[in-house]
Amino acid sequence: MNATGAYRDRFAGVATGVGLGHAKAILVGEHAVVYGHPALATGLSAGILAEATKGTGRLRVPAWELEATAGDGSPAGQALAAILRRLDAPPLDFELRAQFPSRAGLGSSAALAVAVARAAAAASGRPSDDGAIDAAVDEAEAIFHGNPSGIDAAAAKSGRTGRFTRADGWRPVPVLQAIKLCVGLSGRPRDTAAQVAAVARLRQRLSVADDILATLGKLTDDAAGALAIGDVDGLGRTFDAAHGLLCALRVSGPELDTLVHTARAAGAIGAKLTGAGGGGAVIALAPGREREVLARWKAAGFDGFVSEIAATAGEQS
Ligand code: MEV
Repeated sequence: MNATGAYRDRFAGVATGVGLGHAKAILVGEHAVVYGHPALATGLSAGILAEATKGTGRLRVPAWELEATAGDGSPAGQALAAILRRLDAPPLDFELRAQFPSRAGLGSSAALAVAVARAAAAASGRPSDDGAIDAAVDEAEAIFHGNPSGIDAAAAKSGRTGRFTRADGWRPVPVLQAIKLCVGLSGRPRDTAAQVAAVARLRQRLSVADDILATLGKLTDDAAGALAIGDVDGLGRTFDAAHGLLCALRVSGPELDTLVHTARAAGAIGAKLTGAGGGGAVIALAPGREREVLARWKAAGFDGFVSEIAATAGEQS
């Protein structure tokens, strides 16, 4: 059965549904995308799966130690209430299985919103391409993050690699060959809204802040060009340059910088923070040396895993 399709409970004839949301890594362009520049993101194979059953509007994500009830005042409770209202869904409970950590810069809130909205839509008998699902996810993300660009939600829906701008939305990009990506976890929770607000303040006080954001946008297109021709070294150069620029925007932090420098010392050809920064995660390219990177991170006290930027060659992107 399709992960986002509707199905009938075999015992009680109760409408239920399942929905999947992908974790994401922003390859280049975080923060710049908030100001209209492009960013490049890829869906990770890890995701979060929601199952909706008849209930009273409760949500549980055991792996994230998260429990909420629709409208209970918590961000997750408010987001759930918004999704159910937008989709005009019957009273439902949601049990979610997450395969990646929350608040790690990997788009956990967007993935949760996508999974819940898809499950709720399926349980309500709506088609998987119903526009109300997007509206529900956007409203939930606004509750979590204030004024998000929308890239996290787009990547959580797609699960592939795409270029995103506020004006044009998500456009799939060609990836000539699969590229392994090391993901390192700082262990410090990120706070997207706070980081976005800090960049907004910096723009008032640093004359070159807008130039830095524009340069991050240009690097996005360099990175997309590198993916299209399988130029892993070129992609690595954009990662290093992007990390330097994000440091200049003051959105890195001691753990993220340690992860980046440790990866480079272990042979990575490019490494950068991913997502809002402050805490969260880094990504590193280390062709053939992924295990060394994970081992050095482990020795420095950080967890990590290897994921992949999937190739699109031969498929409709
Ligand atoms: C967060 O994953 C990405 C940011 O650019 C915020 C956003 O785009 O909404 C920092």
